[in-house]
Amino acid sequence: MESGLNPFTPGSGTRPPELVGRTRELERFDLLVARVKQRRYDRGLMLQGLRGVGKTTLLATMADQARRNDWVVVEVEAQTSQEGAEALRRRISKDVTRALRRRKFARSIVDRLRSMTEEFSVSATAFGTGVSVSKAAPPQQASLGVEFEDLVEELCDELRTEGNAFGVFVDEMQELEAPLLQVLLATQHRAAQRGWPFFLVGAGLPNLPQVLADARSYAERQFDYRTIGPVSNDEARAAIVAPISRLGQAVTDEAADYVVTASAGYPYFLQVFGYELWRVATGSPFSVIEAEDAVSTGHASLDAGFYSSRWLRATEAERRYLHAMAVSGTEQPRSSAIATALGSSMQSVAPHRDACIKKGLIWAPERGVVAFYRSRHGRVHSPAEQR
Ligand SMILES: Nc1ncnc2c1ncn2[C@@H]1O[C@H](COP(=O)(O)OP(=O)(O)OP(=O)(O)O)[C@@H](O)[C@H]1O
Ligand SMILES: [Mg+2]
Repeated sequence: MESGLNPFTPGSGTRPPELVGRTRELERFDLLVARVKQRRYDRGLMLQGLRGVGKTTLLATMADQARRNDWVVVEVEAQTSQEGAEALRRRISKDVTRALRRRKFARSIVDRLRSMTEEFSVSATAFGTGVSVSKAAPPQQASLGVEFEDLVEELCDELRTEGNAFGVFVDEMQELEAPLLQVLLATQHRAAQRGWPFFLVGAGLPNLPQVLADARSYAERQFDYRTIGPVSNDEARAAIVAPISRLGQAVTDEAADYVVTASAGYPYFLQVFGYELWRVATGSPFSVIEAEDAVSTGHASLDAGFYSSRWLRATEAERRYLHAMAVSGTEQPRSSAIATALGSSMQSVAPHRDACIKKGLIWAPERGVVAFYRSRHGRVHSPAEQR
């Protein structure tokens, strides 16, 4: 088919032509927006899930929804480095300043908020060095907390009268530097106590709830945690068939079934296989032979991109860990068995295991057990399945 018209969007955070299987989460966010209009505030949302299930896409859709409802919206992607923390502060400051320009607040209020925002951004450059994981706030963090809280309070006072809110949408939230994370969580906590319309909405890997709980013990109760997993067969079918039919083409039932089964409901794979199907199809309806061809080319491109980029992210020691898992003969080996296979103690390999989990290379379906995100048989294992 004409490649310029290819509707599928394999990528990272790229809007799919058909956003399937996320109605419940979007309705939950709609409810939050509706409650804000009535000055009745709810908890923020945390979206957790494996790589490629569509967290970024969903988070961005929620941020759009918030913007359409006149919220002040800050959208950021967390990074581990110190520069990442500074970039994040600058983004908060930039987005808030931009939002202020478009609002009808009194002049004096805009001026005050603007100067608070500037202060927040200027002190970003003076904000500590290195990562602090201590729960006791270092002096810079304490002042950062006060500045941010003041800003949120002032801004929320104005937004509340309008029936609007301030939303900070953080992608890859498990990567956020501990001091900044603590400030955001403490501010959310204060907001809930004081009735400020301030909401953190985050997305991250399955270790996100643990990262938040380690930063602040009350984080477990602060948010509505949602696991974003693979979509159902019907939803996967709609993700393939609807974009094709919108362009006046058709796909046989058999071909659609083939792609749906091969994707195991995994959104990223749906886009990869859909993209290849459109590319290889020579006429309508798209046939099962073309679907088989598309899936095999799709797998080759996954091997070259999706999997190899993960491998490149791993250090030598982490690769040895991954290799030992791969040859363990079981899909969910015990961490103790991997340590034995590597001829090391649990303690000495634990940092490599933890680093692999943090990088999203593997995950822990239960205590003492590790697994790859996707088995060789094409099944996707998700935390949701374990419940
Ligand atoms: N609900 C959906 N329906 C169909 N396709 C989707 C859906 N959500 C995401 N996608 C597609 O799946 C791919 C991955 O989406 P996204 O980047 O949002 O995943 P992610 O969970 O953020 O991944 P990562 O953990 O690697 O950041 C993209 O190509 C996107 O277009
Ligand atoms: Mg993402």
